[in-house]
Amino acid sequence: MAVLTVLEFPDSKLRNVAKKVSAVDAKVKSIVDDMFETMYEAHGVGLAAIQVDIQLQIIVIDVSEEKDQKLCFINPEITSEFGTEESDEGCLSVPGIFEPVRRAEKIIVTALNREGDTFITEAEGLLAVCIQHEMDHLKGKLFVDYLSPLKRQRIKKKMLKLHKRDA
Ligand code: NI
Repeated sequence: MAVLTVLEFPDSKLRNVAKKVSAVDAKVKSIVDDMFETMYEAHGVGLAAIQVDIQLQIIVIDVSEEKDQKLCFINPEITSEFGTEESDEGCLSVPGIFEPVRRAEKIIVTALNREGDTFITEAEGLLAVCIQHEMDHLKGKLFVDYLSPLKRQRIKKKMLKLHKRDA
């Protein structure tokens, strides 16, 4: 397993769109394992493959306190959504920024798991937010895209300044 580099906003690679996984083979499983390791290392609750520069529809999530409930969604699709709710979101690709975003309150998702089996899950609360946030990444979309252009510009400036300091 390996810890992968997480791309940071405004890196244009975060705008790439992920392709469907055609077969859950050993290579895909190894990507899933690396993504879990990367997410735990960064103390995140979710990670999408696009964030580690892999253009495949793969998401890993763990919203549990004990960090012992791994969820992997391959080729996820939201089949139903109910209600709306606003909550603060952050992102490993936009470190240190937390802003409110409105999303569906409850969703039903169909996906493949790490074994390549189809499963259906009903999610609400933090898990529902997280799945929607990560699925956006697979379409090249970031949570800052929901904010006002002014706010997004301010965040972009802040991130560029941070990257300059790290360089
Ligand atoms: Ni994110």
